[in-house]
Amino acid sequence: MAEQTRVLVTGGAGFIGSHLVNRLVDCGYHVAVVDNLSTGQLRNVNHQAAFYHMELNDPKIERIVQRERPEIVFHLAAQSSVRLSALNPSMDADSNVVGSVRLISACASEGVEKFILSSTGGAIYGNPAEIPCTEDTPVNPLTPYALSKYAGELYLELFHRTYGLDYTILRYANVYGPGQDPNGEAGVVAIFAGLMLEGNSPKIYGDGSQERDFVYVSDVVEANLAAMYQGDGRTYNISSGEKVSVQQLYELMQGIIGFDEPAHYLPRRAGDVYKIALDATRAAKELRWQPVVALEDGLRQAVAQLRDATAQRPARVRLSGERHSE
Ligand SMILES: NC(=O)c1ccc[n+]([C@@H]2O[C@H](COP(=O)([O-])OP(=O)(O)OC[C@H]3O[C@@H](n4cnc5c(N)ncnc54)[C@H](O)[C@@H]3O)[C@@H](O)[C@H]2O)c1
Repeated sequence: MAEQTRVLVTGGAGFIGSHLVNRLVDCGYHVAVVDNLSTGQLRNVNHQAAFYHMELNDPKIERIVQRERPEIVFHLAAQSSVRLSALNPSMDADSNVVGSVRLISACASEGVEKFILSSTGGAIYGNPAEIPCTEDTPVNPLTPYALSKYAGELYLELFHRTYGLDYTILRYANVYGPGQDPNGEAGVVAIFAGLMLEGNSPKIYGDGSQERDFVYVSDVVEANLAAMYQGDGRTYNISSGEKVSVQQLYELMQGIIGFDEPAHYLPRRAGDVYKIALDATRAAKELRWQPVVALEDGLRQAVAQLRDATAQRPARVRLSGERHSE
């Protein structure tokens, strides 16, 4: 029997990573997961995957790469809260810069064939002069999180130039879908849905005219699969191109959930991107990747899953508190 292709997924206990791990296991790959469980949950990790409870910036990460001998590494583990990055930029840098450098460096030394980096198109371009942004739009981070994610990209490019590590960078729009934490720091769809399902009004920072584009989690997973054997040395925006304002999103979700109350409107926050949308034409041409889930369908699926989860585990969903809508 041919040996299974070995892959490593960092952040495989998190929202996007757990969907990716399930898909890779279904495809027959040998999957190992590294995660510090800071926001991820052990119960999210597929039982067929090997699991390492570990900080990315632990020097032992190199031993994991040696032991697992992955051909392909999907790097999703990150401190992914914009708000926490602003409160504690050095904590954000420890995780997203130092952690990424340790992993990239171990992968280059151990001869990993391909490194696929999850980056952010929603944050990295700042407030661009024109939208939608292509991958050639100048990068302009406005928050420590956006900068630390960009630093990961630059280190990866360096390790490619100097040590020949092959890579693909995927810059996601706002990712949403089943399994996103409604009590988390990020993920406007899950936060809105969690609060509306409890009968509480979500907060909107600003007047709701800020625009975002969204991409469904299974489409993001397929972009990662598409990057396994193509797109070497390239960066791709991964988005649906379906731009909506936060107010429109709120109303769409009100309709799906049957929630009538208005939002609480609060002042805009420093560093918030006002309008962003990504052009994913390059991914369509070069990776032959296309998003297939339309926003309204995806929102219905995300809400249905959260409704079930809330019914089964009422104690896991807080009733109110300092959750942030975007
Ligand atoms: N969700 C989005 O809208 C979005 C958009 C753009 C980019 N991304 C990127 O996608 C990736 C996954 O995001 P997500 O939404 O699934 O977030 P998530 O918080 O659900 O998942 C991140 C996972 O990484 C783990 N982790 C965090 N720091 C770690 C560290 N230092 N060492 C080991 N494990 C660590 C967490 O426990 C968690 O399981 C991140 O790199 C994020 O920057 C997400």
